[in-house]
Amino acid sequence: MKALKTYDGTMEVTSGTSIHGNLSVPGDKSISHRAIMVASLAPGKSLLRGLPDGDDVARTVHSVEKIGVGVNQDLTQPKNNLPQNKNIVIEGGRDRMHPPSSPLDMGNSGTGMRLMVGLLSGFPWTVEFIGDQSLSKRPMDRIAIPLGKMGAVVTGHGEVGNKCHPPLVVVGGHLHGIDYAPPEPSAQVKAAILFAGLSAEGTTTVREHVPTRKHTEEIFKIAGIPVHIDGNSSLETPDNIYTVSVNAAEPSPFIIDIPGDPSQAAFFIVAALIVPGSEIYVGPIYLGQDRTGFIEALKRMGADLTINTTGDEVIPLGYIKASYSRLNAIKISSEEIASLIDEVPILAVAAAVAEGVSVFEGLNELRIKESNRLEGTAKLVNSFGGNAHVEGDNLIINGTKNLRGGEVDAHGDHRVAMAATVAGLTAIPGDHSIITGYKSIDSSYPGFINDLSSVLED
Ligand code: S3P
Repeated sequence: MKALKTYDGTMEVTSGTSIHGNLSVPGDKSISHRAIMVASLAPGKSLLRGLPDGDDVARTVHSVEKIGVGVNQDLTQPKNNLPQNKNIVIEGGRDRMHPPSSPLDMGNSGTGMRLMVGLLSGFPWTVEFIGDQSLSKRPMDRIAIPLGKMGAVVTGHGEVGNKCHPPLVVVGGHLHGIDYAPPEPSAQVKAAILFAGLSAEGTTTVREHVPTRKHTEEIFKIAGIPVHIDGNSSLETPDNIYTVSVNAAEPSPFIIDIPGDPSQAAFFIVAALIVPGSEIYVGPIYLGQDRTGFIEALKRMGADLTINTTGDEVIPLGYIKASYSRLNAIKISSEEIASLIDEVPILAVAAAVAEGVSVFEGLNELRIKESNRLEGTAKLVNSFGGNAHVEGDNLIINGTKNLRGGEVDAHGDHRVAMAATVAGLTAIPGDHSIITGYKSIDSSYPGFINDLSSVLED
């Protein structure tokens, strides 16, 4: 009996199969969006190897093409790790850019939209941005306010400051630098402001009380843009303020191998930890500390994980070996959430089969992801016979020894769909689970089913 079957946007999972083998995951989505955008500003040819083939990153590629940037598949380069990964050459530079002739459609991608709005705020154009149903509900005040302070005018549905959401119209132009502390920890907001800062007069500074992923800073450095960083971003000293500043600059063309996406690796790592008899080796993946909170959390739960680091200082990389482990409950504080924001659904599945009561604090931001991921995650756990509830902004999960087969709607949220698949695999052997809304995985990881099937011992 095959463990995974899909039909008409539905996934059927049959449990009882363990997971073994080696796996590479697609290139990191966050790094890819930024690399495409920085390469678009760089006059000349940049080579980006190992881009993931999900729809989110494709939307960013199409949107830079629509403003005059050259994009060509590079078939001469060896494919980086995975057949579905793409190598592209971007021919960029401000001189070749022009306003798009129709709205930029960012699909499901909040990162794509927020970062492109930041980038195009610095151009004297009027640009319309649209997205799918889910993206059209997501708040854009968080970028409209700081970009407005810099001199751009970003408007949408709903007043700015009172749930402004797409479609958006951006009137860009002459920007000036600001010194800004986003009220919520958000790497997307930091990136939008720093991208605008590349076109602004004077210095643009972002201050963070809780550090967020540093991919904008990393890609700027790779492209030779001076980035000034102050303060300690260590999670042990959360009171520290991390500041990053840029001035107007022109990036240089660059070559990058996009590292594997740790957020995608997390599904396989947790699956190996909670499906009895499993062992998996995943990599190379990005291993910067702002993305690896889930690894630290799993270690605290007693997970048998071995980490081999291989990367350089700018892009920390490595491999993870994960073997089946009996896990204990965990308390995750709100300061840690930014470092594992995308891994909450899959960590919740781990907590559902751990011994004791787990508490995830400060999950407000999850309510405004691709779906209401806080409610969706609690529902997911309960649909598989687990015990989870939301208390304020906290998620409380009472561990149970065995999940059972369940039925859940992923509500168009790729991460909920993939986490539910892992929950289905760990259910009592022979149980069936049904996950609807499964097409959503195409936004980030169309090859997920193939890759998971390749490590399931059928
Ligand atoms: C991202 C930042 C995070 C994350 C998202 C990608 C990025 O969002 O959840 O998947 O690439 O900057 P927030 O900035 O809203 O925390």
